[in-house]
Amino acid sequence: MTFWTKSILALVLTGSAFLGLFAILELLGRKEKRFNPRTLRTIHRVNGYFFFVFYLFISYYCLKIMRGAGEELSARASLHGLLAVAAFFILCVKILILRSYRQYFSMVPTLGLGVFVLTLCTTATSAGYYFTMRGAGVVVPTVDSGEKLVRKGAEYFAKNCLDCHYVDRTQSKIGPGLKGLFERKTLPASGRPVTEENILEQLKNPVNVMPAYPDLTEEAFLALMAYLKNI
Ligand code: HEC
Repeated sequence: MTFWTKSILALVLTGSAFLGLFAILELLGRKEKRFNPRTLRTIHRVNGYFFFVFYLFISYYCLKIMRGAGEELSARASLHGLLAVAAFFILCVKILILRSYRQYFSMVPTLGLGVFVLTLCTTATSAGYYFTMRGAGVVVPTVDSGEKLVRKGAEYFAKNCLDCHYVDRTQSKIGPGLKGLFERKTLPASGRPVTEENILEQLKNPVNVMPAYPDLTEEAFLALMAYLKNI
């Protein structure tokens, strides 16, 4: 899944959480009704079912990605997972009370608020984090396979680039040495600023004699960037 697919999923989930909260606040929290109460109740209920199904859908993909990461999760990813699981169980209890255990109805608004807050915390610890980093110009490889990604990048580099570039020194081999590339201000050959976009440009349209990599996948590129930031 790309960064943008994930962002859209997170936005839809957050939007649905806000819609649910808005409908119920308007229905139960406001004295002079602005909207038809029946419509508000229907919106809250239909949106609730959508939220539940969509939540399961996203969770399925998250579990798949986590399994694929193949190693211990980072602290942030663990917190993300824990918040998501907590939100889900509170939602289940809320639905159970509404459907079968009405004696506990007075707890429902509190539980609903719990689901809302936990959902926001869940997205904040994932999408929020990636958005903040993007804002700062850093593309973070998604889902905590950081280590694995660096290793993938190293493998890709060894296969495709190492013949011409040193990574442990700045002297030239056939092309310039790339040690500490991301700590420099400018790229060694073109003098352009060191950004991922400019490196991608070099890989697609090299400034001089370096071979081009037109078939480079986004995955390989992200791995390569993760690696180059670690040399
Ligand atoms: C056949 C040799 C060769 C291979 C293979 C090669 N490069 Fe280069 N690279 C060069 C040369 C020569 C330059 C100097 C600029 C030019 O010729 O385009 C260069 C320049 C660069 C620069 C600096 C660009 C700039 O704008 O200053 C980067 C970054 C780079 N290479 C990364 C890579 C990566 C990553 C790979 C592997 C995917 C790679 N190179 C594969 C020869 C190579």
